[in-house]
Amino acid sequence: MLSISSLAVSGLALLSQASATILQNGQVRLTSFLNTQVNQSAYSFTTYSANASEISYQGRWDSKFVSWWSAPGIKFAYTGQTVAVTFGELTSPRVLIGYRIGGLDWQFTNVTAGATHLLVSPSTPGSSQTGPISPWTFELRVTNWAFGIQIGSVHVAAGEKLIKLPDLSRRIEVIGDSLAAGMYTSYEGLSSWAYGLGAGLGNTDYSITAYPGILHQWFYTSDTSYRASVAYGDNPEAWDFSKRPAADIVVINIGTNDQNSANNVSAPAYADALTKIIQGVHGKWPNAQVIVMSLWLGFYQSGNSYFPNAPQGFVKEVQDMVRMFNSEQYLDNPVVYDGVTKKSSQTGKRTKAFVHLFNTSGIMQHNDIGPQWHPTDVGAIKVASHLQQFIKLTFGWELQATGPEIFHETLYWNDEPGY
Ligand SMILES: *[C@@H]1O[C@H](CO)[C@@H](O)[C@H](O)[C@H]1NC(C)=O
Ligand SMILES: *[C@@H]1O[C@H](CO)[C@@H](O)[C@H](O)[C@H]1NC(C)=O
Ligand SMILES: *[C@@H]1O[C@H](CO)[C@@H](O)[C@H](O)[C@H]1NC(C)=O
Ligand SMILES: *[C@@H]1O[C@H](CO)[C@@H](O)[C@H](O)[C@H]1NC(C)=O
Ligand SMILES: *[C@@H]1O[C@H](CO)[C@@H](O)[C@H](O)[C@H]1NC(C)=O
Repeated sequence: MLSISSLAVSGLALLSQASATILQNGQVRLTSFLNTQVNQSAYSFTTYSANASEISYQGRWDSKFVSWWSAPGIKFAYTGQTVAVTFGELTSPRVLIGYRIGGLDWQFTNVTAGATHLLVSPSTPGSSQTGPISPWTFELRVTNWAFGIQIGSVHVAAGEKLIKLPDLSRRIEVIGDSLAAGMYTSYEGLSSWAYGLGAGLGNTDYSITAYPGILHQWFYTSDTSYRASVAYGDNPEAWDFSKRPAADIVVINIGTNDQNSANNVSAPAYADALTKIIQGVHGKWPNAQVIVMSLWLGFYQSGNSYFPNAPQGFVKEVQDMVRMFNSEQYLDNPVVYDGVTKKSSQTGKRTKAFVHLFNTSGIMQHNDIGPQWHPTDVGAIKVASHLQQFIKLTFGWELQATGPEIFHETLYWNDEPGY
């Protein structure tokens, strides 16, 4: 575990869940979370259990179908105009989820453990449109990065059915801390740069293993939350990497908290931890390309302008580490690391270079970091956009999103032509 104070930070978020407020330039945003809870006995459904092969789980879910980390979700296609979900008892109280039909904007609702929520009915936006996406598709993501849901069962109208969606052709994994998880952005996971990256590339399945103070925890299904300690004590489920296809690209952004001297993480300890994560990724997914993102801090005002806080976080350590990974000597005999057994071993098999440095300097500016030292929605969008372009230029991935990458409620504009 790298970070100490970040755990305190997550504890704080836990306390503030019930009264979170979204601020726009200091003003409170009006939110309208739908009330979707229904009495199931008033409906006639065809019901699928959580283990139905038609349900594609995105991100990490444990053997009880409990979600972990940031923006985990489910998706499937369906017939009829009804989708309801019964949430299991292990669902966090009043957790916020986003969901949508096809590529339309997200709708939000707080869900209740043990309750059934009617998420799609004929009046849901998109329900009356039969194309171009056909049959209808449904996607749900947990927006609160610190909380989770348990899928109990999924229902469609009586006589209708779920249809499995094929995996998309590309896969991204983002490994990060609170800055990737979406802490302090409007809709947390669904406003994070990690979501923007995955959704914005298009035709890409994405998984965001981001949580304050992640590290060897990447090898496990659950994050490092209080919720996980209650669920598992000292025995978290190891993540079964065979459950999902290997990621093609893994983006790693960890350490912004750690370079804070208050956390007392030494530069060598940081470099060692980051090295092990990359060696862990290479062990699990030998063909994955790894992008290490440099870290960023906040800005301060000095006189009549703004400047980045110095130092910019383990710069030399990151550069040295990337150089080491790309040295001929290393490529000849790379090391893989297993975070469960905590064992490193040499593969004895030459590999092609796979570690890249993405320098974030100059992307975000003073106004892109909120008062709690995390990217604002705009900051997150900037990071995601630059990263997409980097991936396009480095790996030749075309940007294939055709409209449905939606950062909910970021539609700010001026409607006055003569303003
Ligand atoms: C819904 O979730 C949001 C985000 O966690 C929270 O701020 C809000 O208080 C919740 N609303 C209800 C009615 O529980
Ligand atoms: C749900 O509906 C059933 C049948 O109409 C009724 O018996 C039951 O009391 C209802 N439950 C709640 C919590 O309203
Ligand atoms: C799925 O779960 C149901 C009960 O929830 C069980 O009866 C069934 O055997 C399970 N199927 C598989 C394939 O695990
Ligand atoms: C910081 O870490 C070092 C090495 O682990 C330790 O010796 C030192 O006491 C720590 N300082 C504080 C303030 O915790
Ligand atoms: C990123 O670029 C800036 C500006 O060129 C440079 O000062 C900094 O050292 C670079 N950071 C890394 C980690 O290479």
